[in-house]
Amino acid sequence: KNKICLVGGGSTFTPGIVKSIVERSEELNLREVVLYDINEERQKKVAVIVEWILREQLKSDVILTVTTDAEEAFTDAKFIFAQMRVGGYKMREKDEKTPLSFGCVGQETCGPGGLAYGLRTIGPMIELIDQVEKYALEDHWILNYSNPAAIVSEACRKMRPNARIINVCDMPIAIIDMIAGSLNIADTSEIKYDYFGLNHFGWFTSITYRERDLLEEIKHYVNEHKILLPPQYIERLKENRATGDRHAVSSWIHVWESVYTMLQAFPDYLPNTYLTYYLLQKETVEHQNPDLTRANEVMNTREKALFEGVDKYLATGEVDEASFHAGSHGDWISDLAVALLNDTKSRFLVITENKGAIPNMPYDAMVEVPAYIGENGPEVITQEPIPLFYQGLMMQQLNSEKLIVEAYIENSYEKALQSFSLNKTIPSVNVARSVLNALIEENKSYWPEL
Ligand code: G6P
Ligand code: MN
Repeated sequence: KNKICLVGGGSTFTPGIVKSIVERSEELNLREVVLYDINEERQKKVAVIVEWILREQLKSDVILTVTTDAEEAFTDAKFIFAQMRVGGYKMREKDEKTPLSFGCVGQETCGPGGLAYGLRTIGPMIELIDQVEKYALEDHWILNYSNPAAIVSEACRKMRPNARIINVCDMPIAIIDMIAGSLNIADTSEIKYDYFGLNHFGWFTSITYRERDLLEEIKHYVNEHKILLPPQYIERLKENRATGDRHAVSSWIHVWESVYTMLQAFPDYLPNTYLTYYLLQKETVEHQNPDLTRANEVMNTREKALFEGVDKYLATGEVDEASFHAGSHGDWISDLAVALLNDTKSRFLVITENKGAIPNMPYDAMVEVPAYIGENGPEVITQEPIPLFYQGLMMQQLNSEKLIVEAYIENSYEKALQSFSLNKTIPSVNVARSVLNALIEENKSYWPEL
């Protein structure tokens, strides 16, 4: 029977992911779930909720182990779900605020903040791969959704080409959910789509549901409502502002609104909301609050509610619905594990080496494309060449990401500066240099010396 380990056990997403895993106990032939984190205190609190979900909600007898020891965590593990956040929310706050103070987009995975986060995460990810290879089952799989996934996956490809790792992101799924909600489709499992891009940088080229062309339908919807969110959802989210639901807060609403502007300009494909940061840089900066970014929202709401809920439960035994509610964030990643284990050849979007899938992108580019998932990992599906506009945007972003990985490997300030200068969120080389220098100061204990 299988052991599954969650790296970043102290994450606020952990309860939802464990719930999804345990709900698939049979298909995953599950024996044990391990939470592993370097932050013992944080993980202990999250584990209270996980334990409650397992025993009270799901009535499961799966073994739960909570540890800060890598050997204990990985020994004989079949799957390692990786969701580490190097530097925690404190550093996420800096990734968002420092670029903003130089007039650049402040985002955890896009622009200067994303590049900074990338330089922090490469080392620990490589260390993780090495530890897993040492202790886990030989035919283990690492399912990685640690951000910034584009940079992390390029670093893994380059530095550990034989690692059994699959990089994934839930944003396209989140977008499909919003489309389904907007168009009143209850059963998302029958929605089929094509997509190409890099991580947090891609487009849907077709979306269908049975005989319906949802891409056309959603374009009409967005034109009419000037936002890609279901009306009832917008209402509910406004009410729920205080709970920290990710879509309820202003910074997320803005990206759903931006889809309208992007579609007006380029109506061919439906853009991933993350393209807002690259195509509407100026508007994003104007919209962002330099003193209250997404990191603050998450700390003040989702994180706070969770930890307060745990404290209350420990003191009184009372279960607070909101903080013990585990979302379905983990469904898709657990389905991916099911596909790998049972060789289902189901179709998933993954971040993987291009190998010709997009004919006019480099062979070794880490792209986000549909693939069939079986026991040997992803088999990418070949696509048509992509039009010049999209290819141009992608090449610029890809090379910015590749250069930051090279900067890490070669300890090269020059390459880091090239990476920043090439990034579409940064308007000038002088700004690139200033932001980079500020981020070097802040990341002293995390980055290699450039
Ligand atoms: C989406 C992205 C993830 C990202 C998350 C941030 O799900 O695909 O890569 O981590 O949003 O959500 P948060 O609520 O922490 O801002
Ligand atoms: Mn993502």
